[in-house]
Amino acid sequence: MPCILLTGATGYIASHTWLALLEAGWDVVGIDNFCNSSPRVLERLAELSGRVPSFVEGDVRDAQSLDRAFALGQQRWGGVQAVVHFAALKAVGESTEKPLEYFANNIGGLVATCQALQRHTAADQPLRMVFSSSATVYGKPEQLPIREDAPLSATNPYGATKLMGEQILAELQRCDARWLIASLRYFNPVGAHPSGRIGEDPRGVPNNLMPYVAQVAVGQRERLNVFGQDYDTPDGTGVRDYIHICDLADGHVAALRHLFEQGRSLTVNLGTGRGYSVLEVARAYEKASGREVPLHFAPRRPGDVDACYADPTLAAQALGWRARRDIDDMCADSWRWQSQNPRGFNG
Ligand code: NAD
Ligand code: WQD
Repeated sequence: MPCILLTGATGYIASHTWLALLEAGWDVVGIDNFCNSSPRVLERLAELSGRVPSFVEGDVRDAQSLDRAFALGQQRWGGVQAVVHFAALKAVGESTEKPLEYFANNIGGLVATCQALQRHTAADQPLRMVFSSSATVYGKPEQLPIREDAPLSATNPYGATKLMGEQILAELQRCDARWLIASLRYFNPVGAHPSGRIGEDPRGVPNNLMPYVAQVAVGQRERLNVFGQDYDTPDGTGVRDYIHICDLADGHVAALRHLFEQGRSLTVNLGTGRGYSVLEVARAYEKASGREVPLHFAPRRPGDVDACYADPTLAAQALGWRARRDIDDMCADSWRWQSQNPRGFNG
């Protein structure tokens, strides 16, 4: 089986994808600079997979670090045959305070990773890359559910890096037919591996809903601030397409298979097609955890949209992939991770 290089390998989505790839029989090499993840992820991956992870600590903006990762893939598995580029900074609010850091890291990192892939691929071989894009590229959606051909826009620097990332990759394909790119537009990844051994471990106050609810349920935070109750949705709170992290990980395996077997690029939504409101998520979490989630109604968060959910038809048709796990699975697995690791990977 081919060897896949994961950038941002110890992060939330990559760590689950790493396991899914190993389970599917692929070999994996990872690189991460731990700017938003813990080295302890590697211990948990070893425990869950029974294999020592092949890993390089380094920054993807640094060509030498990338060269070391490709060399490790060459030495252990005969060469890297595709890259999944997860490495990026992802906090929307922070991106408006430090836009240049986001451009340097997310755009600089993408370009350096593409250059390294090109450097380490023979001239007659395809250049295969899976790119972590985001539903944020749809800006304020005009129509729901959202299809891949909907208008694109950026409402903050983070979103701009995803839009530009897709554009850079599309341009590469136009210039050189060897590039095979899968841009995956994730909706709202939540939950954890059912073992409870890996999961989402945000630093500081969580920006996203589910990890915040998890910390309220476990008693680390007093109550959930519900941002806005006058949205144009059935209960007035924001509606999103939450997708179980293991379904998302499986989507990456399907996308890689597509690149290897079909030899064609694609841009595709990874979502369930079903939206849940903030209140529905809080209730589902109470049910899964048996804990109360006290609510505090707060003003809208700037930049938030009423509702956002995917049309997942293309992923089903092109990749033969669809999300299988429901909101109760998402909350139950999040709760297992949160309750067994109240301080994440640090305790
Ligand atoms: P994460 O922060 O858990 O993972 C990103 C990883 O990349 C971290 O381990 C971090 O240390 C690493 N990293 C960042 N910059 C790096 C650099 N220059 N060199 C090496 N490593 C670097 O985030 P995640 O939620 O797992 O997100 C993974 C990808 O998916 C990101 O590209 C993100 O933008 C995208 N995405 C995430 C979501 C979401 O809600 N979680 C939604 C859509 C898209
Ligand atoms: C979900 C809903 C909030 C926290 C963000 C990024 C997006 C993508 C995924 C990377 C909204 C409400 C939240 C809280 C709340 N990331 N909420 N109280 O905003 O859909 O997407 O993460 O690409 O780019 O923007 O997700 O989890 O932050 O919010 O009421 O404490 O929960 O208003 O309606 P969002 P989220």
